[in-house]
Amino acid sequence: MDHMSRRAALTAIAAAAAFSSSCRSSTKAGDNKTKNDTTMTTDAHDVHSFAQPEKVRARSVALDLTVSFEKQNLAGAAIIEIEQAKGADPLILDTRDLSIDKIESSPDGAAYTDVKWTLGQKDPILGSPLSIQIPPLTRFVRIQYQSSPQASGLQWLKPEQTAGKRSPFLFSQNESIHARSWIPIQDSPGVRVAYTARIRVPNELVALMSAEHKGASNGVYDFAMETPIPPYLIALAVGDLKFSEIGPRTGVYAEAPILSKAAWEFSDMEKMVATVEKLYGPYRWGRYDLLILPPSFPFGGMENPRLTFATPTVIAGDKSLAGLVSHELAHSWSGNLVTNATWSDFWLNEGFTSYIENRIQEALYGREQALMEQVLDRRKLDKELTELDKRDQILHIDLKGRDPDEGGTNVPYVKGALLLRQMEEVFGRDRFDDYLKRYFDHFSFQSITTATMLDYLQRELFDKEPALATKIPIHEWIYEPGLPASAPRAVSERLETVRKDAKAFASGAVHAKAIQTKNWSTQEWLEFLEVLPPLKTDQLAELDSAFHLTQTGNSEILDQWLQMAIKADYRPAYPRLESFLLEVGRQKFIKPLYTELMKTLEGQKRARAIYAKARARYHPIAQTAIDKIVK
Ligand code: BES
Ligand code: ZN
Repeated sequence: MDHMSRRAALTAIAAAAAFSSSCRSSTKAGDNKTKNDTTMTTDAHDVHSFAQPEKVRARSVALDLTVSFEKQNLAGAAIIEIEQAKGADPLILDTRDLSIDKIESSPDGAAYTDVKWTLGQKDPILGSPLSIQIPPLTRFVRIQYQSSPQASGLQWLKPEQTAGKRSPFLFSQNESIHARSWIPIQDSPGVRVAYTARIRVPNELVALMSAEHKGASNGVYDFAMETPIPPYLIALAVGDLKFSEIGPRTGVYAEAPILSKAAWEFSDMEKMVATVEKLYGPYRWGRYDLLILPPSFPFGGMENPRLTFATPTVIAGDKSLAGLVSHELAHSWSGNLVTNATWSDFWLNEGFTSYIENRIQEALYGREQALMEQVLDRRKLDKELTELDKRDQILHIDLKGRDPDEGGTNVPYVKGALLLRQMEEVFGRDRFDDYLKRYFDHFSFQSITTATMLDYLQRELFDKEPALATKIPIHEWIYEPGLPASAPRAVSERLETVRKDAKAFASGAVHAKAIQTKNWSTQEWLEFLEVLPPLKTDQLAELDSAFHLTQTGNSEILDQWLQMAIKADYRPAYPRLESFLLEVGRQKFIKPLYTELMKTLEGQKRARAIYAKARARYHPIAQTAIDKIVK
């Protein structure tokens, strides 16, 4: 390793980290005096990390990793820069399935000496604590290690699984607690680190990270993220990638065969950034680029700073699914700038983001578009609330003993957004926008708990308008299951019309061909399909012959249609069902399809036969999820 340049990079980063911590105000968890019962829970302890940052805290990490597609691993070193409270405690890092070769410490980043370490027993959810005995004056700890081919945060794709079919592909997905499967780190959203990385890849491939690109030559790529971020936002992708510029700050990376389609689909990105800036203050990350991944990406999108990762299934050909970019971009404020301190506070990330997403959609595509999206989201939430455990209907969710990925229901997203919408309605849009802008400034580059957020809300909004504040049952919103009776409910005229059409078709009063669908948006199609009662096979056949739904190129509509096809045993859709499940690994789509199949004996056979072929193509996170459904 090149020690000199590494040291220079680290020194720069250390300065940035020190600066950001000196800017930290008095809002650190634990400082909050309880104002009323809504702010009682000041506990910022993260049950999903072994780290003890209050004793020894990571400030930055410098990676030097070689990407091997043959071995399907990352191998090299991580240098963790630390700050010690007393100089007497071990440094504890999170790991999962890492093999550790050597650990050394250094007071200055120049001379390293070997230290003792132990890797604890593996917890099925958390992985293994790595406990490192460090001398009192240690500032840098260098760990030489390799990731496992089964690393839960990485997916290694064969060329056949890519658009180009010629080169392999690698991408990471760290949220919620998968950073530890490829970096030994304090893997808690409450521990922010700056990072640098030197990534060595096969010559013909391109490496990208959620960081500033500092240079590349002969397959060696350098990156730096000087602003401290939580480890779940460190991200890496390697593949045969090309770039297309959208605006001065924005662009799209994708494989060549889909690049121009992607660039057209997301041509509003530059405008989107400007729109959010007007509402909530400056975009603080420099560039905002989008990376289109192969279809096995297990999510719709992931808000990695400077570089959102996205599924290709949002390329609908008509920009109708671009709301996903509004969502991931919104995280540049809610999530990346102001971060949930623990996974119990996940709604601070996703609820705020879903609210802002809808505001962006309204600003760019109009009020009716925003309302349609709200109506569809609300139906999903209402349906899920009838099935979910009470404890999982609570915004400040208790995840002790559970995988935080289990908290990913509509509750943090849609219930969280509804709370913000109620505040907007009660206090007025201007007032609430101003409040949110100040919230993002006040807590910028910090990780906060729900209690800290509530404390600020009380002081900066509720106490100023006590009469209005009584209209918001804040304790019920945050700590109780279900939805408050006063939760706002959106109505969309366009969807009302569609609902009448659906009713008329279901009752046999009109034929499919007679329905005026020419100008329907994705949302209208989804409303139409979702409100239909269970249909008979010949009714599905009629819809299919009128609207060619089995052949639709819109993944959201296809997913809804395929669910209906399974329910009604509409066989002409089965070949498309199989090809969709073999190609696409986005959990939001494939989980409901496998779940629906498993409801009948014949469906179970079909599900098992498809999954036998598909499993190896899915991401480790999706494999775990579908294993639970199919086995
Ligand atoms: N941060 C999430 C994705 C995530 C959440 C990954 C929890 C792992 C654990 C991302 O911002 C997100 O919410 N994506 C959504 C799309 C969005 C439009 C609702 C998705 O992937 O479906
Ligand atoms: Zn999100």
